[in-house]
Amino acid sequence: CDLTDLNTLRLPSRAQFFAAPTTLSALRGCIARARREGRRITLLGGGSNVLLPSTLGGVVVRPALGQWWLERDGKRTRAYVGSGVNWHALVMALAARGLWGSENLALIPGDCGAAPVQNIGAYGVELADVLAGVQVMSLADGQTRWLSRRECRFGYRDSVFKHELAGKVAITRLVLELSREPRPVLGYGDLAARTGDAPSALDVAQTVSAIRREKLPDPQRLPNAGSFFKNPVIDAAAAQRLLEKHPDMPQFPQASGGCKLAAGWLIDRCGLKGQRFGAFGVHERQALVLVHFGGGDRAGLKRAADQVAGAVMERFGVALEVEPRTIQA
Ligand code: EPU
Repeated sequence: CDLTDLNTLRLPSRAQFFAAPTTLSALRGCIARARREGRRITLLGGGSNVLLPSTLGGVVVRPALGQWWLERDGKRTRAYVGSGVNWHALVMALAARGLWGSENLALIPGDCGAAPVQNIGAYGVELADVLAGVQVMSLADGQTRWLSRRECRFGYRDSVFKHELAGKVAITRLVLELSREPRPVLGYGDLAARTGDAPSALDVAQTVSAIRREKLPDPQRLPNAGSFFKNPVIDAAAAQRLLEKHPDMPQFPQASGGCKLAAGWLIDRCGLKGQRFGAFGVHERQALVLVHFGGGDRAGLKRAADQVAGAVMERFGVALEVEPRTIQA
């Protein structure tokens, strides 16, 4: 099965077997069969945050539970969402119903089931702020169980699904806790200036979508995986030394004591915006995004990424960590 259309970077990739079960019992059946036949399972969502190898052994499974529904309990409204629901479509549907909580996360590509893995975040909100729980299915025995938000151990672009539970469970459902009372979060960048006073949840979702369309390349037109590097967190003393040399460097002190830097700014300051490296390049409007012009593969992308990270290390002495997940061959 060809996975090139199933990853937004359009890295050429082939899997031995592919399945997209749409129910819990079909997913359980897939898992049991792979185990019986001794095949490894690789989980895939919308493919918008992964670096695929050119060939993948075993079975690639995309949990495709496509249903979602709302449950109202007094002031609280919860959305139960299948892993295969498109994230952006869900955000727009919730915002259109006047439900607050996920509107700042509009236009993030991918399936809902992948959202907790990297704890998607944008414009001052992250999934962890709105998520109440996650249902998972064990790849060992097909049993389902619920994890609370705390058990997901969310961090910046991080969760238990990248660590202890990596390769052990499929995410099957999310529960989001939404508010019917207006709860706008407009502190990031020029969001407040662009939404105006008393925006609706839908106004916020549409404004965020507009801002993203201005800066971020549409993967349908120019393949990419969003931010290619995490924003690095360094210790406060090192951040202070950098600020003395570069007074206009954006810095975001963290509650943990460290200081977050803007990787896009660092790459931009190395003069790499719009720079091409073979089949790949640094996006011309957002230096944190690497784009694929076609004809490249994961090895070529890694070479491009090494050049970018190398330039930042040389100029600023700051290490960049790749954000999308590398899937083992
Ligand atoms: N900047 C530059 N040049 C650039 C890019 C950025 O100077 O080419 C500067 C900006 O001017 C700003 C700062 O760097 O001062 C931060 O830029 P921006 O607000 O665009 O956000 P970011 O830190 O580059 C992060 C997330 C995005 C998310 C935005 C908005 C990460 C790795 N990325 O990007 O998430 O949409 O904030 O909240 O945290 C993603 O993860 O795929 C993603 C797109």
